[in-house]
Amino acid sequence: MTVHSEASLVNARVTMTGSGEPEQNLVAVRDARPSAGPGKAVVRVEAAGVSYAEVQMLQHLHPFPPKFPFVPGYDLVGRVVETGPGVTGLRPGDRVAAMPRQGAWQEYVELPAKHLAEAPGHLDPAVAVSLITNGVTAYQMLHRLVSLHPGDTVLVHGASGGVGTLLTQLAVHHGLRVIGTASPAKHPAVRALGAEPVDYRLPDFAGAVRELAPQGVQAVFDHVGGRGLDVGWDLLADGGTLVSFDSSVAGYRPGQWFRPHVPALRRTVARWFARRLGLTRGRRQTMYYVKPGAKFQADLAALYRLADEGVLRPEIAGRHRLDEAPAALRALLDGATVGKHVLIPSHR
Ligand SMILES: NC(=O)c1ccc[n+]([C@@H]2O[C@H](COP(=O)([O-])OP(=O)(O)OC[C@H]3O[C@@H](n4cnc5c(N)ncnc54)[C@H](OP(=O)(O)O)[C@@H]3O)[C@@H](O)[C@H]2O)c1
Repeated sequence: MTVHSEASLVNARVTMTGSGEPEQNLVAVRDARPSAGPGKAVVRVEAAGVSYAEVQMLQHLHPFPPKFPFVPGYDLVGRVVETGPGVTGLRPGDRVAAMPRQGAWQEYVELPAKHLAEAPGHLDPAVAVSLITNGVTAYQMLHRLVSLHPGDTVLVHGASGGVGTLLTQLAVHHGLRVIGTASPAKHPAVRALGAEPVDYRLPDFAGAVRELAPQGVQAVFDHVGGRGLDVGWDLLADGGTLVSFDSSVAGYRPGQWFRPHVPALRRTVARWFARRLGLTRGRRQTMYYVKPGAKFQADLAALYRLADEGVLRPEIAGRHRLDEAPAALRALLDGATVGKHVLIPSHR
């Protein structure tokens, strides 16, 4: 076992104790820091992402939600402080990125070494973490799921959000025309990314998009689900693709986590069969869920290069201490910000 001499023996972490409000159900705790078991490494977290997944976990609406209590936190960037038996290729002090899906909201976290990706030492950790789940999601949907060519038009829902801002920047860089939905207060931010904003609350939202793209769009990226998937489907040009990457549609009771996803699944299956029968004008619907692995690591490396080149400029909505996690999640719940909220455990 190799231990970094500066590593503290105390760990600070945030626990989600139950479903409800962030102020009541996120509790800061201190205990002993973990040590690295076989094949594992302990990482001192420099920045952990606050994401919509934690909102869904708090409402017990996330797919396969973890049992309470647990330490939330989808992704992190940090430095290795200790490696366990059998770990090769990693040394204390190495900068790493990871997407454990839970457990990132703490000072020290023990993770399987094989799940750690390299993170550039020079990048602001808040920027580096904002490119993990959100960046890889945006990158893979755009470059692995859909075949698009410069000049094509795409519709990005939530273009002001963590995923949407990056997806818009990547799409614009690829030469695509982007129509981006957001609430009106965020239209200037969406415009600054190079997209044409549309208010998703407009009664004739589809008409507003059709006015901008009378021939339809080559791709729709939708995280809302429900009936919106029919609107998106109708907006597709022949041969276009509808990517459903969540069903965050409001109105479901906590605990019914599977229910919002049923309409998306049903439509995906029905449209798969319809396409096989030649009934969709070449249009297709597909679902996306980010997962770790070799492609994840390769695409994260590509995103870090794009950040270095200045192509990606992740928006950091706020930097918070661990004990400010309730305020960070509240900001996300209130929809008052643009970009990514980040927890910085070393902030005092
Ligand atoms: N499938 C995957 O692997 C994967 C990975 C990462 C994230 N996600 C999902 O992606 C979604 C976005 O995540 P995020 O971190 O970017 O969240 P976020 O930062 O909170 O952004 C949410 C965005 O959605 C917009 N929005 C709200 N209601 C809408 C509606 N009815 N129609 C269209 N847009 C609407 C918001 O716009 P305003 O703020 O202007 O209202 C905001 O831009 C979440 O549902 C998350 O769970 C999925």
